Amino acid sequence: MQLKSFDNTADLDLYAAQLFADALKKNPKATLGLATGSTPIGIYGKMIDMYQNGDVSFKYATTFNLDEYVGLTRDHKQSYAHFMQQHLFNHIDLPSEQTHLPSGNAADLATECSNYDRMLEEQPVDIQLLGLGHNGHIGFNEPDHSLQGGTHVVELEEATREANARFFDSIDEVPRQAITMGVGSILKASTILLVVKGADKAEIVKQALQGPIMTECPASLLQTHKNVIVLVDREAGRLL
Ligand code: GLP
Repeated sequence: MQLKSFDNTADLDLYAAQLFADALKKNPKATLGLATGSTPIGIYGKMIDMYQNGDVSFKYATTFNLDEYVGLTRDHKQSYAHFMQQHLFNHIDLPSEQTHLPSGNAADLATECSNYDRMLEEQPVDIQLLGLGHNGHIGFNEPDHSLQGGTHVVELEEATREANARFFDSIDEVPRQAITMGVGSILKASTILLVVKGADKAEIVKQALQGPIMTECPASLLQTHKNVIVLVDREAGRLL
């Protein structure tokens, strides 16, 4: 596991975006694993800058997102599909048919999950971006006595709903379920880029990277992967 700490968020964002650009330079058809939440927004901003400056093209890339809320339509303002349009897809040359998010609105969620896993098997992720939940979740894999490997429907923890309520008008509007890639699917990516920002994540990132490997802290399973790059800002990294 490589750990890099940054004094300045813009430098961290640029470094992360450059890793994606490098993957695309090496293989223009690379499969990129993408994430939502506030953490990646600046990274997507840098990717857009690089595209606009002619430094990178996403034309032949494929993307898979980690997760989506159940029950929100793609155009709902808080759906992750909408988030990706707003923060990245609308601003780059990535054809929409090459972007993938699980549909939280599918009539048959079990089939949606198995279809997503099949697509991931056909186009394995080269580089997967991950944020970190305050409870150690990655994607929407919540702490539990056991974890599911593949894409599945998950009941969101109240703490997660509360953390994400800031994006909704009220907590009652935050969905109770989500579809998420499983930890097993996430660990299949060739390279994993975990990005953690802010003092409020200092404890959990320490637990995830230096604590015991346990399903009660899903991110701790990243310790079993051979190619994880962790980028932290000074505040998040202060206990490491
Ligand atoms: C959500 C997402 C995660 C994300 C986490 C942290 O629950 N499903 O993928 O990593 O929140 O979000 P933030 O970056 O806003 O702290």
